[in-house]
Amino acid sequence: MGLTETEETNKFTFEAFAAHPFYTEVNRTLVQQALAHLSSRSAENPITIVDMACGTGAVTRLIAEEMAHQGRQIHLIGVDPSAEALRRAQKGMEGMCVKAEFIQGDADDLPSIVHNVDMAFFCNAIHLVPDKHSAFQRMASILVSGGIFACNSAFYEGTYVLGTERFYRLWTRRAVSWLRKEHPDVHLSRETKAVAMQWLTPEEYVASLKETGFNQVETTNQDVLISLDAWRDLGQYWLFIEGALPGVPLAQGASALENAVYQAGQELGLTEVARTWLQIIATKA
Ligand SMILES: C[S@@+](CC[C@H](N)C(=O)[O-])C[C@H]1O[C@@H](n2cnc3c(N)ncnc32)[C@H](O)[C@@H]1O
Repeated sequence: MGLTETEETNKFTFEAFAAHPFYTEVNRTLVQQALAHLSSRSAENPITIVDMACGTGAVTRLIAEEMAHQGRQIHLIGVDPSAEALRRAQKGMEGMCVKAEFIQGDADDLPSIVHNVDMAFFCNAIHLVPDKHSAFQRMASILVSGGIFACNSAFYEGTYVLGTERFYRLWTRRAVSWLRKEHPDVHLSRETKAVAMQWLTPEEYVASLKETGFNQVETTNQDVLISLDAWRDLGQYWLFIEGALPGVPLAQGASALENAVYQAGQELGLTEVARTWLQIIATKA
């Protein structure tokens, strides 16, 4: 896919957003739910876990922490198309007692990277993948029979808590006005809907997983409160900027989103906005 890194995109990373406590908590819930499925397995054999789309490693570190807690041996592999994100993920693992290996690639590359995997994560990234069905097929192909696939997203049909849509509309509108005023030479591109905006319903996710070799699929919806500061930090992430303000240079887009988020919050009298996370745990047949 068109994930093209440059020196410019490297300046707009996901790390600040991923450091917010609510983000750790929502991901930790998924990690713990997934790892609970391992309790029936013999503790003697090391377990292979893949963190697909690991990015800067927020979830990789959670997996490592939980496994260290359980005192289990683990072979942990983080995979992501972004070399810059992997460098940061690698750095973030320094000093942890569980080690991880990081490999550059996307879901299509997985079968040539690993096999006989006990558990695979795909956190906060599936909405960025144009062909989710084939990504699930790849995930199924690397898992052992009975292996666990854990996936979550806050970009799906159902993620907006009732009454909060107006916040997102106003945020975008204020960002566009800010750009028009401060950078009249900058224009939004009129491309078709960005990939990040092609949202599936939970039912569509379940159906796709059932068609790609998973027999048990559990979904939960988890509500979280996201502060304006956290939204600002998400507005500094290049993939989010490209989705929200397509065609706008990243630096201008980030400034627009930063100014506009506080403006929208003030106009609506909000300091935080609720959002629902979709958490999915599927078992390979
Ligand atoms: C928002 S970050 C999530 C990182 C981490 N998994 C987490 O939950 O904090 C999204 C990641 O998806 C990766 N990504 C984008 N497109 C992808 C694709 N088609 N296949 C796999 N990963 C992709 C990006 O490089 C980025 O690191």
